[in-house]
Amino acid sequence: MDYFKIKGPCRLNGEIEVSGSKNAALPIMAAALLAPGRTVLKGVPYLSDIRVLGLLLESMGCKVERLENGDLAIDATTIDRPHGDYEIVRQLRAGICILGPLLGRCRQVEVSMPGGCAIGNRPIDIHIRGMRELGANCYLKGGYVIADAPKGLIGAEIFLGGSFGSTVLGTANVLSAAVLAKGTTIIESAACEPEITDLCHMLVKMGAKIKGIGSPRLEIEGVTSLNPVEYEIIPDRIEAGTFMCAAAITEGNLKLKNCRTDHLLALINKLRGIGVTVDKTKDGCEVIRRGRLNPADVTTQPYPGFPTDLQAQLMSVLALADGNSIVVEKIYPQRFMHVAELNRMGANLRKEGDIVVVAGVDRLSGAPLMASDLRASAALVIAGLAAEGETIINRIYHIDRGYEKIEEKLNSAGALIERLKE
Ligand code: EPZ
Repeated sequence: MDYFKIKGPCRLNGEIEVSGSKNAALPIMAAALLAPGRTVLKGVPYLSDIRVLGLLLESMGCKVERLENGDLAIDATTIDRPHGDYEIVRQLRAGICILGPLLGRCRQVEVSMPGGCAIGNRPIDIHIRGMRELGANCYLKGGYVIADAPKGLIGAEIFLGGSFGSTVLGTANVLSAAVLAKGTTIIESAACEPEITDLCHMLVKMGAKIKGIGSPRLEIEGVTSLNPVEYEIIPDRIEAGTFMCAAAITEGNLKLKNCRTDHLLALINKLRGIGVTVDKTKDGCEVIRRGRLNPADVTTQPYPGFPTDLQAQLMSVLALADGNSIVVEKIYPQRFMHVAELNRMGANLRKEGDIVVVAGVDRLSGAPLMASDLRASAALVIAGLAAEGETIINRIYHIDRGYEKIEEKLNSAGALIERLKE
């Protein structure tokens, strides 16, 4: 197993290019199932989650190929087995996003229920409710979600909100099923995340009819067939936000290329509030920190609110602020695996339910740490850059699921991170 050895503290200075978005690419790859023929996707990052979804598509009869120029080609001419196998889906929660496209195209699907994960319980009840409201029989059996609609799906008015707000992959699934349903579907309380907007744009390019893109009310006029297309994925806002936090914690000066600042306004607002300068550039931004950091209060919310996927990384930064910060996690109330590890580095964090009180300290010190999930691991890397001495982060396969060559990118801007084998 690989691990990271980080020598800190460092001051990041340089330019980093942001990769294509993992969380946009995954549902878009699944949406390629809707069109017989060869879809070509540009900007798909080289990540283990992407590779696993590729294997899942291949297991159903598609041909998935990385072209020489880095594009990802998915040939979905034939789907001979609309089945998402447990052995593959257990490695990747986003495997569930084949549910909608397969039900739409093949009118039947079986997909293994994704398991729980380190960030807490991750139910799929809203996905199932959405499929039923489109007229499918949809039920759980033997650890699988089984759905069929022998006469095809029928448009409906569907409220997709849940106790924690909208659902990103639930919206992707219902939307991807509804584009081939008969008649009009209204999705109310749809997720507005840029990854869903990106999926909408891809579907429209394929021939789908969708109104209200980017809003919580999507209106979909079903069509009888869709065409394969060439499509470019948006930049990864969470990777970009992670690098912004890395610049902030190291008193750095970092230019980010291929970064959509308009997707990151909630983070940028918080960073400016704690004393970090974020300036827009032609194709990204420049993040500069000079001097001490102010504390902040942060509550995670569905987009355009502050993203849960950046909560851990900002917490690392706030651990070194002058004063007390409060971080409230409203999407995944148990997503605090990084708290105990940051405390091992000398941070002063106290968790009470879905709230963490962060009492800022003057310095962090390097320590051996355990990566637990993707974003918590990124938070530890960021903390390791600012900590004095050596930080060892074990189980970095979590990081490799969602960050393309993170150590190479950070090292190019002055970090000292080594990838080693146990
Ligand atoms: C997506 O997961 C992302 N994953 C997550 O990123 C991200 O944290 C999350 O959205 C929230 O932004 C991908 O895009 C692949 P949700 P998703 O359904 O769609 C509850 C990362 O680090 N809920 O929007 O699965 C749920 O428990 C990952 O890259 C139900 O109650 O999340 C949560 O509280 C981790 N029933 C809230 O809704 C359901 O049927 C939002 O979850 C579905 C969700």
